[in-house]
Amino acid sequence: MMNDKDLRQQAYQAVEKSLKTAQQDPYRQGFHMTPPVGLLNDPNGWIQWQGKYHMYFQWMPFHTGHGAKLWGHYSSDNLVDWKLEPIALTPSDWFDKNGCYSGSSIDHDNKLKVFYTGNVRNDKGDRETYQCLAESDNGIDFIKKGVQVELPEGYTAHFRDPKVWNHDGKWYMVIGAQTLEKEGTVAFFESDNLEEWTHKGELAGPVDGLGYMWECPDAFQLDGKDVLIFSPQGVKAQGIDFNNQYQTGYVIGKIDYENGKMEHGGFTELDRGFEFYAPQSMVDEKGRRLLVGWMGVPDQGEEHHPTIKHHWIHNLTLPRELRLEQGNLYQLPVEEMKQLREEKLFEQAVGSEISHDIARTSELIIETEGSLDHLELKLFDFLTMSYSKEEGYLTLERPNLASEETERRSCRLIEGVKHVQVFIDRSSVEIFINKGKEVFTTRMFADPEKRLLKVKQKGKEQLKLTAWKLKDNCIQQDISNWYNK
Ligand code: FRU
Repeated sequence: MMNDKDLRQQAYQAVEKSLKTAQQDPYRQGFHMTPPVGLLNDPNGWIQWQGKYHMYFQWMPFHTGHGAKLWGHYSSDNLVDWKLEPIALTPSDWFDKNGCYSGSSIDHDNKLKVFYTGNVRNDKGDRETYQCLAESDNGIDFIKKGVQVELPEGYTAHFRDPKVWNHDGKWYMVIGAQTLEKEGTVAFFESDNLEEWTHKGELAGPVDGLGYMWECPDAFQLDGKDVLIFSPQGVKAQGIDFNNQYQTGYVIGKIDYENGKMEHGGFTELDRGFEFYAPQSMVDEKGRRLLVGWMGVPDQGEEHHPTIKHHWIHNLTLPRELRLEQGNLYQLPVEEMKQLREEKLFEQAVGSEISHDIARTSELIIETEGSLDHLELKLFDFLTMSYSKEEGYLTLERPNLASEETERRSCRLIEGVKHVQVFIDRSSVEIFINKGKEVFTTRMFADPEKRLLKVKQKGKEQLKLTAWKLKDNCIQQDISNWYNK
């Protein structure tokens, strides 16, 4: 086990060594949070605290694979411009020596408190798991308070990712878990004082067919209903559903806090694209429920990402506002994203077809008075989104990163396309359909020289296409002020 100081020093050196290479990658994003170098996965500890937004993240600075994660940290005043802060947590104690795994933040007693999973491999190589606490007075420097929750009976050591919240004056915690029968579930805890935690059973799960492990649960109230988001592993593909290696989705219902149970409906995928996993949400000071996900999926072709040559891999999604509409979770880019607009490239009506060069960091909006029956959008000769009302599906296609064979993800959409908003950030694409009803989050490794956008439609509807060039210098990764050189 390495101590905190050495880990920080080595991470600093790793960043110093390869940051330029990473930043010179033509696939490097301009307004999405990336790891300075190395691998980023889940968003962690997402909070607006004393006015500032803090996004911590799972970080492996030493290579582009997984391993004993640190907590990296970005902060922001406006959700648009992000500043890399010094490392928040290092895996330097007996209870987290093989990784400070995912967790969440709360504001309590004027402190920012984070609950996270200490991942441990014991002498025999077996996994152990501890739910730990760390506290901060400034959001930057943390003092670890050690283990708060031990593994209860009835679960394997796949037990992690505590999400803590307050409801009616009591504290609650959900933890992603696996039963001894190897089924995914969500363990539920209650506390009066944030010190002693009582295990109240399973809030939800297991559910037949919903996999062997549920990661990163997040439970909250939205528009009068309770929502539980989680990322199950081991769900089999069924037609157009569940096509990624692992899924992320939600159930809606009602939490019975007294008995520690949630009654809920069926599981719906939250995002229909190729890369989306382990999202986390929080309520900001404007009262909005904001969600950020990891734009990646574990064990899904990570070794084929071309960015590895430049010593980095993965990024987070844009912050999205969640709403509940007719029993569906909608995701919309936060309104602050308008601040990214640097220059309007064009705005024009499209009768049937248009081709236009755009910037590698662009926003597109397709609007129409009624709704479109047929639409095709092609980006940089790489990614194609197409819709046919007769078929009732909207489909995204790209060449597979390894085989280059066309692969696709689809969703049902019967009402036609009324609105499309697309954020392109060099190798990241987020497509919001019909004002957040469906979202496709996807990486796009197109030839860096390509700029061409093609939009086609059939039918009598007019559509208006607007394109902006977006700011591309929003992620500040200056480590010269880190004190652990
Ligand atoms: C999800 C996850 C979490 C875990 C973390 C480790 O991607 O596997 O369950 O805490 O990543 O980096």
